[in-house]
Amino acid sequence: MNDASTETIIVNHTTESQDLGMTRNDPSPPTHPALTFATFPHFRLRNRLAVAPMSRVSTAGDGRATEAMLRYYASFAEGGFGLVLTEGTYTDLAHSQAYGQQPGIATDAQAAAWSPVVRAVHDAGAKIVLQLMHAGAISQENPHREGTLGPSAILPNGEKMPDYGGSGPFAMPRAMTDEHIAEVVDGFTRAAVRAREVGFDGVEIHGANGYLLDQFLTTYTNARADRYGGSVANRVRLTADVVQAALRAVGPGFTVGVRLSQTKVNDSEYRWPGGAEDAEVIFGALRSAGAHYIHIAGEGGDWMETARFANGETITGVARRVTGLPVLANGGLGEPAKMAHVLTEGHADVVSIGRAALANPDWPRRLARGEPFERFDRAMIHPFASLENAERWRGSVFGLRAPNA
Ligand SMILES: Cc1cc2nc3c(=O)[nH]c(=O)nc-3n(C[C@H](O)[C@H](O)[C@H](O)COP(=O)(O)O)c2cc1C
Repeated sequence: MNDASTETIIVNHTTESQDLGMTRNDPSPPTHPALTFATFPHFRLRNRLAVAPMSRVSTAGDGRATEAMLRYYASFAEGGFGLVLTEGTYTDLAHSQAYGQQPGIATDAQAAAWSPVVRAVHDAGAKIVLQLMHAGAISQENPHREGTLGPSAILPNGEKMPDYGGSGPFAMPRAMTDEHIAEVVDGFTRAAVRAREVGFDGVEIHGANGYLLDQFLTTYTNARADRYGGSVANRVRLTADVVQAALRAVGPGFTVGVRLSQTKVNDSEYRWPGGAEDAEVIFGALRSAGAHYIHIAGEGGDWMETARFANGETITGVARRVTGLPVLANGGLGEPAKMAHVLTEGHADVVSIGRAALANPDWPRRLARGEPFERFDRAMIHPFASLENAERWRGSVFGLRAPNA
């Protein structure tokens, strides 16, 4: 393919008029299954490539998105991604905040700071969904309220994460009362409304990776004897309640998705004890609550290794079968062959990539052009996961050789 024909395809990527890689005058077959449209209930993506949510702890401590964050998010849209999922964003000025430099959408000023980010991503042809997050018992730094909350007073696994500004053991959380639960639901709800007001295409309820909603879903962090504890139907209830309340508040036409995982930032071994049977209950509850998509995180693991249940089905495949909704797969899928397998074997509708996207904000463009990918280097997000750290890393690496050389 010469440069001119490549350029034609790329131009079509950034418009919504053509299927990626399948322009009418292009005699070659579709280049990759990820380069085709994906249809969601309220929008269509120009391809099946999403940027996974990644905390970048890069605000000034006031929870407001910055100019550097705008450039960071816009770079993925400019690089051809169909969907940009933001980092986990705190929902209230109570107990939701996880990290000191985390962005929020708990106030009108924080919401307003997201507005130019949304515009920049839209201007570059991608959709943008805000991930809403409550840290619960694994909050590392929260200036708003003393102490942490969880489903039960059980000490979390592991320690605070230095890459996000923490150190030492987690605090012992207080077991949440009915009033706390109502406050959490209200926080998610108000945050979703603000997200709609500033132009996001939707919100993703963060029910994954060991944060509050996942603490309810997980057997060993939830010892409650009420309607939120015990059976898997009870343990997923709070996530379903949040989805339902958010949907009621935002009204029709605005996407409310959910992210779930088996593994966690502080436990890479955990699996849903009932395997595919638990998955059927969990996904059924979220479907009944009205969720618009399901996103399965592969935190700390590889989809290829962690997605398979004992009955042979994959977690994303069960999500598709039970809900009929668009499903996003994630976890080590930033390789064209693996990604193609997941999409063509019916395991997912969209693939989200995290670390590979950090190394290649233009991953979709490179895929379409058949160009090589840069390798992810952990030093990009270590010793601190901030954009400033990534910038320093870029200077030290690309100061020695030109990017893409
Ligand atoms: C720096 C960093 C920050 C992350 N922050 C979040 C987050 O805010 N919300 C979330 O759901 N997952 C978060 N994750 C997990 C990623 O979304 C993703 O599940 C994980 O990196 C595995 O995908 P990958 O193999 O494509 O990188 C984060 C991952 C990284 C590397």
